Parts: sequence; C-alpha cells; structure tokens
Amino acid sequence: MLSLPPNTSITTAASPNSSLQTSKPPTLNQIHHHFQSVSTRSNKRNSFFIHNCIANHNPMATAIKVAALSGSLRKASYNTGLIRSAIELSKSGAVEGIQIDHVDISPLPLLNTDLIREGAYPAEVEAFRQKIIGADSILFASPENNYSVAAPLKNAIDWASIQPNVWAGKPAAIVSAGGGFGGGRSQYHLRQIGVFLDLHFINKPEFFLNAFQPPAKFNSDGDLIDEEARKRLKEVLLSLRTFTMQLQGKNRNNSNSQKLSK
Ligand SMILES: Cc1cc2nc3c(=O)[nH]c(=O)nc-3n(C[C@H](O)[C@H](O)[C@H](O)COP(=O)(O)O)c2cc1C
Repeated sequence: MLSLPPNTSITTAASPNSSLQTSKPPTLNQIHHHFQSVSTRSNKRNSFFIHNCIANHNPMATAIKVAALSGSLRKASYNTGLIRSAIELSKSGAVEGIQIDHVDISPLPLLNTDLIREGAYPAEVEAFRQKIIGADSILFASPENNYSVAAPLKNAIDWASIQPNVWAGKPAAIVSAGGGFGGGRSQYHLRQIGVFLDLHFINKPEFFLNAFQPPAKFNSDGDLIDEEARKRLKEVLLSLRTFTMQLQGKNRNNSNSQKLSK
C-alpha cells in the first residue's frame, strides 16, 4: 500500500475534482499523477519560501538542498568519505548556502518491478524517491567497477527513474575515488545515463581522485585527509551551487552569465 496520512486524498488528472480515499489502493497511473502534482505544489511552495527568504536577507534559509549518494556500500568507502568531506565543507561554512544530506542507498532492494504492488513502491524505495524529489540538486560519489558505474548506484538510479522520473531537471555533480583514472570512466557512463534521465551535470571542475597513489588520500575509516583534494572538492560544490541557482533562475548576475552576455 502507498503510505499516505489517513485523510490524504489523491486527485487524478482525469477527474481533477474527484478524490480517492487511501483505503482504496490507487492505480499506478494515479500515483504518478499524485507525485507529479505534489512535486509541482512543492516547487511552488519552495519558490514562495525562497522569495521570502531573499526578501528577508536570510542566507541560511535559502540553502540549496543537495542529496548526496555514494555508489559504495563499504563501511570505509573512499567515495562515501568524499561525501562526508563535502558535508563538512558545507557545515563549516567553507561553502555557504548549501545543505548536503547523505542519502543512504543500502536499504534499497534490487530492482524488480514485481515489488511495485497495487501501484505502491516498497517503503524504502518510496522514501528514497521522496528524498530525491525534495532535493534541489544531486551529488554523486561514483566508484568505478569494471570501467562503469557501481551496481548499487545504478540500482538506486533505476528505482528513481521509473515514471515519473524524479531525476528530471535536477542539476548534479559527480566526484569519484578509485584506481588509476580515479573513477573517471564511471563518471562518463553516469553522464551518459543522465542524458536519458534529464539530469543536468556541471561540466567543470571534474573531480577524479586516485585513491591508491601515495601519499595516502584517505585514512583507514575512509575519511579524506588530502588537503589539495579537499580544495578541489570545494570547487565542485561551489560550481554545483552556482549552476543550481542558475537553473532555478536565482542568480542571473554570476560571472558565467556575465561572460556569456558580453
Ligand atoms: C568488482 C570490482 C571492480 C572494480 N573495477 C575497477 C575499475 O574498473 N577501475 C578502477 O579504477 N577501480 C576498480 N575497482 C576498484 C574500486 O574502484 C576501488 O576499490 C574503490 O576504492 C572502491 O570504492 P570505495 O572505496 O568507495 O568502496 C574495482 C573494484 C571491484 C570490487
């Protein structure tokens, strides 16, 4: 069953004034319409909220919400370490106006559309999709496995891509740590996947980190200990912030658009 508050009703696009009680399982079609309209309403609410925050000069309240996903489930994962470091950068104020939440993809079942019962996703999948819907932009930390995107990350991407594709229109950035190319080949496959999903990746700066070349880049817990890499990571976050604001139409006076208009 789709888990919605008891008094929630679902308005269908086919009959906009009719409401369905949650005691009757909605069809897959109705769920799609529901989440589309929830998403639109929430975007409108966000715009209103952000407008008010800007009017009140409260920079913290306008923070861009970033959902950060690591494609590695390993406890001491270097890629998850990159996400922790990004969160630290945002919390310490080194990168202002950005709030990064690590979205754990480990609870997701392996993709199997038979698990969508009576139009409802498994609870973990539904929760995951809602987190993506609620994010302004996405940060992928993408390990390279056999020259491509790691299976857990592809699994998460696929679950959230089922119509309505909740990735559509989101700005995104990729970072990776791995062998010789620092995970670069997974990044280029991820960019290709993003074409179909309508993800909008920042082009630069690119962030690849060879995790195995001395001196050590991570400690035994997978925490990033390399200062130069931390600085490069900061640049990625700044670029994602600028690009997100550009796509949301909030920052038309940034240096890139000024360059373009000259
Ligand atoms: C099945 C498998 C395939 C891998 N393939 C590649 C690869 O193609 N290129 C690469 O640079 N590293 C490869 N690696 C190494 C991982 O990228 C490396 O261990 C990385 O640290 C894993 O990310 P994590 O530390 O976030 O878990 C592979 C590892 C495994 C387990």
